Amino acid sequence: MGFGRGKVILLGEHSVVHGYPAIAVGIERGVHAQAAPGNRDLLRLDPWALEIEPDPEADEPLARAFAAVLDTYAERPPLEVDARVELPAGAGLGCSAAIGVAVLDAIDGALGRSRSREELGEAALAWEEVFHGNPSGIDNTMSAVGGVAWFRRGEPLRALDANKPLHLVVGFSGVSSSTKEMVSSVRRQLEQDENRVRQTFDGIETLVRNAKLAIEAGDLIALGQLLDLNHTLLSSLMLCTTKLDAMCQAARAAGALGAKMTGAGGGGCMFALAPKREEAERLREVLGDDAFVAEVSA
Ligand code: MEV
Repeated sequence: MGFGRGKVILLGEHSVVHGYPAIAVGIERGVHAQAAPGNRDLLRLDPWALEIEPDPEADEPLARAFAAVLDTYAERPPLEVDARVELPAGAGLGCSAAIGVAVLDAIDGALGRSRSREELGEAALAWEEVFHGNPSGIDNTMSAVGGVAWFRRGEPLRALDANKPLHLVVGFSGVSSSTKEMVSSVRRQLEQDENRVRQTFDGIETLVRNAKLAIEAGDLIALGQLLDLNHTLLSSLMLCTTKLDAMCQAARAAGALGAKMTGAGGGGCMFALAPKREEAERLREVLGDDAFVAEVSA
């Protein structure tokens, strides 16, 4: 059985595309996939009832991504892959990367090929590139490797030693967004007003560096404040929606140590940092029916 996990970017999304560091965690929800030789190449995606044939020229990105992944295997029989997706799509939790990692992992299993989780993550970049032209690589890497990690584009993932478990509560704003469009919007702002956007990225980098120290020291109060500040800087790049802001406010009012949007923004998910396990359950009720608790340790 192949598996690709979802991820939550704690701090540093968007600036990470431009070479700045970010911190992310892998979550237990993700995508499970199974592959077996069949009559033709086919990818079935549950619960969406989708059947995808690989086609490098198709309008459907899943067909192009499946073709890109199959292309990386030199000799193979036709393969049927069944994937079960447990993540909302277009919600900032790395759904597309998790499908790519799970599919590759399942095909490796069917062909008796073994490689490290890091290599699997690298291979899944071919899949991610179809979905947005300029992925930093954080989603596919975290999907394969997991844990609590420091990521900088082009460098190996660095595991962080979290002094305390992190109790995260993830809430979905109910609106999907396109990572490609959100990344393009930031790139346009960078082209039009480089000074302002670079200053914002520098500010985010300072928050990421301090968050690393807070995670390693187990200082959850400091980490929560840094999350709030990162949310504000992402708002200044016009990535937050009224709904995401309201959800973050509601979580803070209900006792969260901090809250921010996560992933590409423009919709998608936010998360709150709960002081303790029991309080995470209470925050989950505040954040709506789709909310879930993600426990993360080193
Ligand atoms: C998307 O999960 C994270 C972004 O920073 C894009 C990327 O890093 O490729 C918005």
